[in-house]
Amino acid sequence: MSALADLVIRRGDHDQRFTVPFEPGQSVLDGLRYIRASLDPSLAFRFSCINANACKECLMLLDGKVVYACTARLEPRAMSLAPLPNKPLVRDLVTEIAPPDERLE
Ligand code: FES
Repeated sequence: MSALADLVIRRGDHDQRFTVPFEPGQSVLDGLRYIRASLDPSLAFRFSCINANACKECLMLLDGKVVYACTARLEPRAMSLAPLPNKPLVRDLVTEIAPPDERLE
């Protein structure tokens, strides 16, 4: 039997738990992409480069610590994900990350 990981994701005013297949070497971002592809296409999170740690768009809180979802390892346990604190929340795990002077009016 293959292992499973539980991603407990902060969505606005509640947490939602998703169970995803776990393979060693996968990233948290892989788990999120699985959720969006197979479980809930409405889940919002941001990424561009997937695993190069280059775009800096996938920053989020994992168990209370700021991580890049694309480099944080998925683990076969319950993992809590939340949007960055102290940033304007857009939706789910997406926050407004552009500096104020780069935002579109
Ligand atoms: S997806 Fe680009 S830094 Fe994580």
